Amino acid sequence: MRVSGPAREEVDVKPVRCAVVGVGMMGSSHVQVLEALPEAHLLACCDTDPGAVERLPGGVPLLTSLDELLGRYQLEAVFVCTPQDQHLPVVEACLAAGLFVFCEKPIAHNLETADLMIEVAKRAGGRLAVGHTMRFDPDYVALADMVASGGIGTPVHLSARRNVPDFEGRMLFNRTTLAAEVGVHDLDLFRWLAGPVERVFAMSAETSTLGEGAVDAVIGTIRFATGAVGVVEFNWIMNSDSALSADYRLAVFGTEGAAYVEMRDPVTMVYTLEGAKWLRTGGQYEVGGTATGIVATEDRHFLATVRGLRDWPVSLEDARAALEVALALDRSLATGRPVYVETGRKCVV
Ligand SMILES: NC(=O)c1ccc[n+]([C@@H]2O[C@H](COP(=O)([O-])OP(=O)(O)OC[C@H]3O[C@@H](n4cnc5c(N)ncnc54)[C@H](O)[C@@H]3O)[C@@H](O)[C@H]2O)c1
Repeated sequence: MRVSGPAREEVDVKPVRCAVVGVGMMGSSHVQVLEALPEAHLLACCDTDPGAVERLPGGVPLLTSLDELLGRYQLEAVFVCTPQDQHLPVVEACLAAGLFVFCEKPIAHNLETADLMIEVAKRAGGRLAVGHTMRFDPDYVALADMVASGGIGTPVHLSARRNVPDFEGRMLFNRTTLAAEVGVHDLDLFRWLAGPVERVFAMSAETSTLGEGAVDAVIGTIRFATGAVGVVEFNWIMNSDSALSADYRLAVFGTEGAAYVEMRDPVTMVYTLEGAKWLRTGGQYEVGGTATGIVATEDRHFLATVRGLRDWPVSLEDARAALEVALALDRSLATGRPVYVETGRKCVV
């Protein structure tokens, strides 16, 4: 009996020979998934930190030189999971080596670099995919399908929240911004649901919770080109010792209804003598050796794209635009003024 399974043409597809570059928090996640996916053959990993070997399963070699990785293995694809200011050099080298490249979001740390990345990718014949993971979450996809089919009429008001634990804030506040690191997920979803953004305005809390000068939380308002409005709220200060580790919400109010995705206190909670904690299953989890979760869905989709069986759903222009809106929120924080985006108009106050 066949209950469900891959399409017939995918059954005999050869595993893609791949590597992960940058084996930190997100790279480790891809490594675990790729190790469990029959569509992938993870040959090696690369990280400038030799200590990253501790985060690898036994048997997967770690190289500290990208040139050596590209020279030594007959790779077909690379997953780039370095910090965003280290995306371009790695992506460029991998594309030049003729490989397919998956690059973690956001596409880059600034727009000039994002433009260079797009230029390099176009010259390489479109072998670059930027990983906006939420596009592979069935809850968001179902909501977007509903909106696209006109099920709630025309979107008028959108609202998004993404709050994450303070261990992320402490690790990242010196390296990137809350909007570019965390908010960019929802800014991409906003554009997917309601189209280009025209104007943003933002306020922040800087209470020294994470450290001197750190932005703890951002509240932003958005004006879409259609005339719809949106509100976003992001923080990375939720106490890591508390049981609450994820607080996400996306709501769209349309002329004929509303649609919500709400995630807080994930379904699987464990209560022990040490307190309550939740088990992280939505991102990735292995079920009897099969990788499940949104990272697995995303990685499988990319591997199928490499084999020419799928199209990548996020264009490089979408990835750039999501970054542009995130950086506009940062600019609004810095200037205290509204910032025009995607329209080329100058800020007027
Ligand atoms: N899709 C998601 O949901 C999601 C979640 C978290 C992070 N991310 C993204 O993943 C990327 C990595 O973030 P992270 O939190 O895993 O960072 P991290 O700091 O945990 O890991 C980065 C790793 O890259 C290595 N590295 C740095 N420069 C390198 C280089 N030039 N060559 C090889 N290795 C290098 C570092 O030593 C480190 O091990 C970022 O773009 C981030 O925004 C995506």
